[in-house]
Amino acid sequence: MATDNQTSGFHLVGKLLDPAARADPYPIYAEFRTLGPVWIKEMSTLVVANYRDCETLLRDPRLSAERDRFFQVDQAADPYPPDAPSSIRRPWFLSLDPPDHTRLRRLVSSAFTARTVARMEDSIAQLIEEYLDRAADRETFDVLSGLAYPLPVTVICRMLGVPQADERFFHRWSAQLTRQLDGFSNRYDGSGDTPQWVHGEVELHRYVNELVADRRRSPRRDDLISELLAAQDGGDVLSHDELVSTIVLLLVAGHETTVNLIANGVLALLRHPGQLAALRADPGKASAVVEEILRYDPPVQLTARVAGEDLRAGRATVPAGGLVILLLAAAHRDPEANPDPDRFDPAREQVRHLGFGFGSHFCLGAPLARLQGRLALAAFVRRVREPELIADPPPYREHLNLRGVSELLIAHAG
Ligand code: HEM
Repeated sequence: MATDNQTSGFHLVGKLLDPAARADPYPIYAEFRTLGPVWIKEMSTLVVANYRDCETLLRDPRLSAERDRFFQVDQAADPYPPDAPSSIRRPWFLSLDPPDHTRLRRLVSSAFTARTVARMEDSIAQLIEEYLDRAADRETFDVLSGLAYPLPVTVICRMLGVPQADERFFHRWSAQLTRQLDGFSNRYDGSGDTPQWVHGEVELHRYVNELVADRRRSPRRDDLISELLAAQDGGDVLSHDELVSTIVLLLVAGHETTVNLIANGVLALLRHPGQLAALRADPGKASAVVEEILRYDPPVQLTARVAGEDLRAGRATVPAGGLVILLLAAAHRDPEANPDPDRFDPAREQVRHLGFGFGSHFCLGAPLARLQGRLALAAFVRRVREPELIADPPPYREHLNLRGVSELLIAHAG
């Protein structure tokens, strides 16, 4: 039985990695759920697809967020070129355990509390109106490049104090770097060919190193990079490399996630005109729509941990050092967590999701993402008349984990 499960698990990973599965990975996730937590020996990886185990494992201290441990043991290879900045070897705090994780997260948390973020509501609403004004005089509109992408990018650049004109460079680097978050794909296969994500990571680190050097020469008053520099100068709390890695994390997180919340949200509404009409009639429902999107078609599909010691999950055993992939998007459609899980229903009584993770690594940007999602979706249904999808399914990016479309063209009446 265990061996059959393993074979099926390995086969399912292959199906999931196939780009043809991007438009609808959910039937594959359902197959994973029927297997229960499954140890795939060939990949030294446990795959978990049911809700209860994902939630339990996310708060299990025996699991480490230091993913590099697995890849270094497995491949014993350093993929970076010799002239890469030293910050690249200082993992961002998403991939650190306490005490470093706690210390670094604390330094930036105050910038992302619900109260701090709420002060940005008017400026975010104004940006959205400007994007939709531009769409109004055209018959077709790409929701991705016209609204879903520029909004979170502008917001995070402003918060950090990153010149928005530079976005044209780091957009590509960020997209390349995030392929390493796909989980199953080998981080580095030792073949000597430099993977694209390494290129993106190196360039982004070079860019942020320069930015920090520049800000040190000419300090500003009111952005997060300046605050972090002040924290660094104020005591022995943050090294230069940690500062750079933290800024890279915030820049990437601000770039690659909320865009998909907005685009996946618009897509789900266009496919469910009754829900779109309900939101138009009552914009107060926007928060519920956002939570249902985070469950039904989440921007972050999975996360990974490394077993710090031997452990059991369901009938599977994971040896210390094994990789643990938690398929959050599969867990959300576990009928034990959410009845009738394949139905998109913002009115459901209770929405259980791990769309922002769970436990000590719970998404720091959740209040900011929720605010942008709520305002963007409510404004979209209010402003865009008779929107219709031009291609269904729309084209998807290659990313497995940070799931999103590469274009979302609609026709509309103004
Ligand atoms: C809809 C949008 C977003 C989604 C779905 C999302 C999802 C997630 C998830 C699932 C995690 C936990 C990963 C894990 O446990 O391994 C996470 C962590 C994180 N997110 Fe988000 N995120 C979003 C937006 C943002 C934004 C806008 C920011 C800030 C700019 C942000 C910053 C972070 C940071 C810093 C962490 C690491 C927290 C830690 O390790 O303590 N996120 N996010």
